[in-house]
Amino acid sequence: MVRRYQIRTYGCQMNEADSERLAGLFDADGYERTDRADDADVIVLNTCCIRENADNRLYGALGHLKALKDGRPDLQIAVAGCLAQKDQELIQQRAGHVDVVFGTHNVHRAPQLLADARQHGPVIEILDAAARDDGEMFPTALATTRELDHAAWLTIQVGCDNSCAFCIVPAVRGPELSRPFGDLVADAVRLAADGVQEITLLGQNVNSYGRDITTARRRRDPDVEDAAAAGPVWADDPARRARPLFADLLRAVGAVSGIDRVRYTSPHPKDLRPETLAAMAETPAVCEHLHLPVQSGSDAVLAAMHRGYAADRYLDKLAAARAAIDDLAVSTDIIVGFPGETDADFDATLELAAAAQYDYAYTFQYSPRPGTEAAERTEAYVDPAVTNDRYERLRTVVERSALAQHRARVGRNEEVLIEAPSKKDERVMSGRTRQNKLVHVAATESLRPGTLATVTVTDAAAHYLHGELVEVLASPRRRTKIPVVAG
Ligand code: 5AD
Ligand code: SF4
Repeated sequence: MVRRYQIRTYGCQMNEADSERLAGLFDADGYERTDRADDADVIVLNTCCIRENADNRLYGALGHLKALKDGRPDLQIAVAGCLAQKDQELIQQRAGHVDVVFGTHNVHRAPQLLADARQHGPVIEILDAAARDDGEMFPTALATTRELDHAAWLTIQVGCDNSCAFCIVPAVRGPELSRPFGDLVADAVRLAADGVQEITLLGQNVNSYGRDITTARRRRDPDVEDAAAAGPVWADDPARRARPLFADLLRAVGAVSGIDRVRYTSPHPKDLRPETLAAMAETPAVCEHLHLPVQSGSDAVLAAMHRGYAADRYLDKLAAARAAIDDLAVSTDIIVGFPGETDADFDATLELAAAAQYDYAYTFQYSPRPGTEAAERTEAYVDPAVTNDRYERLRTVVERSALAQHRARVGRNEEVLIEAPSKKDERVMSGRTRQNKLVHVAATESLRPGTLATVTVTDAAAHYLHGELVEVLASPRRRTKIPVVAG
């Protein structure tokens, strides 16, 4: 009997990348994927403690699954990801029917842990930061089963060395750790050979990629070059001890033959260097899109958050990015209702959002994450009704600029990478422009996922564009696998 698995993903891109890797591990183990809980032998809930309400959603889902498990005791339920890591014992206390709890550092052990649980009963295994160096914790790009054939995540770094007062990441994901440069480029080459056209470089703080590599190298011996870690590209550069830079990685991945598009998320504004902007401008494959989380427009709130920049400085960086890169789309993350946020602070956020003219923004209502500095400031919590009102007002401002940015594109020709049939209408194909805008195009035979096409934008809304096909630029590169009969 074939065993079937279902994975539910509750979080950020990092979390989605982990889910794709989990799927790859199960596939390699002979499992089949299913979308129906009723058919599954294993259900993995991959959690995230960054997104709002993650714990309520998790416990809600576990509640529903209890009935299923009562009827089918063989069903295995696993909770993975950073919420699992943080709340490990609590999960088993509150949901005794969970078989396996594992964290973000031991995704690669999932099939083994499930097998152990079948033999010996429930297992909790969370690796701590010290155990992270086993080389296996990094999602190697190849072992994953991707949601889209032509697009892949590439995790270049995990952890975070900052200490934003609202954020749980440094506590659960540990200090920054960059994957060796050479390994990343090799992964990009292999992904391209597998038909991948678009790579998104992922990290909690992507643009400080390499900082830990250079620090470690300097501590060991300033004269020793570690080619595997640093990459041999700049052996003659007198400044080589400060490399690899994130900019080097953008250029190297962008140079891989077959990779049409390179994206990355998320950079930190304080670490956005001119070298990164130059690499974006000078590497044709790197897309004209910058997601630059601002979090607030008030200098007082930014200081209380420990973000390391003031609003003016952020806007200067944005202006420098727009000056360096033609037709750059810009998006952001903003939190409203941070402890102590006054009306005047919030007005400053509205002003900044209007001035930045974002293409889109992920907006969040502050929610306390136990263990973070801001969560302690209970006396300064903002009334939820006030936060809600601010949230709606901010959304109006963001949607206004999004719509303006989108309307300005009507009548223009854009390069679109087709992704999949539209969720609402099978006769429409959806894709993305280089600026990461979702475009719906009336389907023709030639528009298969992975097709690169020129599309005229005909209509715009705040969250998407409509377009008409002008011409197909390139067919999908992914070859259909032809079974080979041995012998
Ligand atoms: N409350 C609200 N939003 C948060 N984010 C992170 N932590 C919190 C929190 N405690 C948001 C930030 C971050 C995004 C991924 O999630 O805006 O950039
Ligand atoms: Fe969290 Fe700040 Fe690190 Fe981003 S930079 S992961 S918000 S601590």
